[in-house]
Amino acid sequence: MPIPPAFLDELTARCPIEEVVADYVSLSPKGGNLWGLCPFHSEKTPSFSVSPEKHIFHCFGCGKGGGVIRFVMEMESLTFPEAVRKLAARAGLEMPEEDREAQARSAHRRRLLELNRAAARFYYETLKSPLGAPMLRYAQEKRRLTPTFIKRFGLGAAPEGWDHLLRAMTAQGYDKGELLEAGLVVAGKNGSFYDKFRNRLMLPVIDAAGNILGFTSRVMDDSAPKYLNTPETVLFKKRSILYGINFAKLTKRGFLLLVEGNLDVITLHQAGVDNAVATMGTALTAEHARLMGRYAKQLVLCYDNDAAGVDATDRAMAVLRDTDFSVRVLQLPRRRTETGELVKQDPDDFIKYQGPAAFERLLSGSEDQTAYKLETVAAGHDVATDEGRVAFLREVVPVLADLASPVEREIYAARAAQRVDVSKDALLREVEEHRRRQSRQSRRKEERAALTPAARAQPQARELRYDDPRSARAEEGVLQLLFLDHTLLPLCGDLRPEDFSSPLLGKIYGLLLAHDPPFSPAVLDGELTEAEAGHLARLLQAPVSLAAGRRAMGDYLEIIRERRTGAQGAASGEAELLALQRKLKQKQKMEDAK
Ligand code: UTP
Ligand code: MN
Repeated sequence: MPIPPAFLDELTARCPIEEVVADYVSLSPKGGNLWGLCPFHSEKTPSFSVSPEKHIFHCFGCGKGGGVIRFVMEMESLTFPEAVRKLAARAGLEMPEEDREAQARSAHRRRLLELNRAAARFYYETLKSPLGAPMLRYAQEKRRLTPTFIKRFGLGAAPEGWDHLLRAMTAQGYDKGELLEAGLVVAGKNGSFYDKFRNRLMLPVIDAAGNILGFTSRVMDDSAPKYLNTPETVLFKKRSILYGINFAKLTKRGFLLLVEGNLDVITLHQAGVDNAVATMGTALTAEHARLMGRYAKQLVLCYDNDAAGVDATDRAMAVLRDTDFSVRVLQLPRRRTETGELVKQDPDDFIKYQGPAAFERLLSGSEDQTAYKLETVAAGHDVATDEGRVAFLREVVPVLADLASPVEREIYAARAAQRVDVSKDALLREVEEHRRRQSRQSRRKEERAALTPAARAQPQARELRYDDPRSARAEEGVLQLLFLDHTLLPLCGDLRPEDFSSPLLGKIYGLLLAHDPPFSPAVLDGELTEAEAGHLARLLQAPVSLAAGRRAMGDYLEIIRERRTGAQGAASGEAELLALQRKLKQKQKMEDAK
C-alpha cells in the first residue's frame, strides 16, 4: 500500500523526531545533536544521537538509524504502514484513503480469507459427520483431544475422496481459480482439479488477528507425508506464521513457549499451558521473533531432545541473540520404555506419560540460557582428560564474562568449576580478567567509531559493502549535499542512479529523484531495509559544509563520471573518453558561472 509522500511529509512535520524519540529515550543536548543511551543495544555511554535539524536518529554503536518512522518501526516492532498509522494517531492525522490498486489487493485478500473460513467450516462439519468418523476417532483416542479443544482449535476432517471440498466450495460460489490460489485444490492433468487435502485430520492455521491463513493436516497412520501444509500463498507465509498465537497472545504467564509440533501446541493448551506456539515445521526467523516480541519479552524454547532439536535450538538462539528476548531452554527428559529403552519425548508425549502437573514443574524450573550454554560447551569436550578440561574452561570464560551481574557470574562459575574440578576463584579471576580486556577493547572501538569520519566508513552490513570506495565516497557526498540542500539537484545534470558504483547509494539517489523536494529521510523509511536506513543515517549525521557545497558537488560528479566513463571506456575507446571528459568540464564551468 503506497502511502502518498505528501501525507508522509505532513506526518513527519507533525511528529518531530526529537519528541517521538523522547517518548522512549531520555536525551540531552550536546554539540547541536541530542544524545542518549541507545534503545536498540545495551551500552553505558550514550552513542545514540538524534538530529532535530536533519530529522534522523543514528547510533554509532549498533549502526541503527533512519527517520522518525524507522524509529517507531524498530522500537515497536512494526511494519512501515503500521508505524505510519501509529504516528498518525499520535499526531491526530487521518490516514489517507488507500489507492484503488491497494483496495483491490485487500479485497482479494479478504475474499481468500473468506474462502479459507468456508473451507474450515466444511472440514469442521465433516468431522462431526459419518465421513469424518475416522478423523474424530484419531483426534479423541490417539491424540486424547477433548471436544472442547477440538472445537477451540477448529479441527476438521478432509474426507477420503477427490473432490468433496471442491464441490462444496464451488456450490458456495467460489471458483476453481480461487480454490487453487488458496492452495485448497491442486491442478491435475487436462485442466482438472482435485482436493489437496484428502483423508486427513485438518488444523486451520490462524493468525493473531483471527484470520485463517491456511491449513496443516496429519495422516492418521504411518504413511508419508505425516504433515501436509497449505503451499505458500498470498496469505500463507511460513516464515512469519506461529501456530497457536491467536490464543497464546492472551496468556497471562508473561512468556511464550515455543515448541516444534502443531499438535503439541493443542495438547499443551489443553493441559493449561496456554502460551504454547510452534512454527510450521521450519526454523525460527527474525519475523517470528518480531511477532512474538509484540506479546512477550520472555521465551522458553522446548525443542525435541535429539540432534535435530539441539540444532534447531542453537539456530533459534542465534536469531534471538539479536533481540531483547530473555530466553530459557526447557529440555524434556528422555523416557524409559517398558523394555528399558531410553527414548526422546516431545511435550505431547511428556504430558501423556507424566501429566500436566509434571510439565508445569519442569516449566517453572526450566533451565536458563546460561545453564544451557554451559551444557552445550561441556558436551563438546571430554572433561575426563586434562586437555578437554582446559578447552572447556577456555570456552566457558567468555560465556561467563558476558553475564552482566556479578552474582550470576559467581553462581555459574561455581557450577562450571565444579564440573571440571578446579577452584571457583581461579576461574572467576580469569573471567574478570577477560571482562577487563573486553571493556578496554570495546571502549577503544567506541572511541574509534566516534573519531572516524563517519562518511568514510564502509556500510556495516556486508552485502552493502562498496566495490569502489573512491567513487562511493563521492556518491555519498552527492547524497549528503542533496539532503542538506535540494536546490543543488540541478547541478547533477544527467547523473543517473545507474552511474553510481554502489547499488545502495544509487537506489537512494533514484528515490530522491522520484520524490518531491525537500528530501526527508522519513519518507525513505518505507523504501529502505533496516541496514540501508542505518547506513543512510550514518551518512547524513556526518557534518557537511554547505558553504563548500557547489564546489564539492562538482568534484564529486567528476569522480563519479570518471568511473562511469572508465567503466564504459574499455568498449568506447580512449578518444571518445577524452572528448566526454572535456564536455563534462565545460558543462561544470557553465554551472559554476551561473
Ligand atoms: P514431528 O514429526 O516432530 O512431529 O514434526 P510431532 O509434532 O511430534 O508429530 P506427531 O506427534 O507424530 O503427530 C514437528 C512439526 O514439523 C512439521 C509439522 O509442523 C510438525 O508439527 N512437519 C513434520 C511437517 O511439516 N511435515 C512432516 O512431514 C513432518
Ligand atoms: Mn509428537
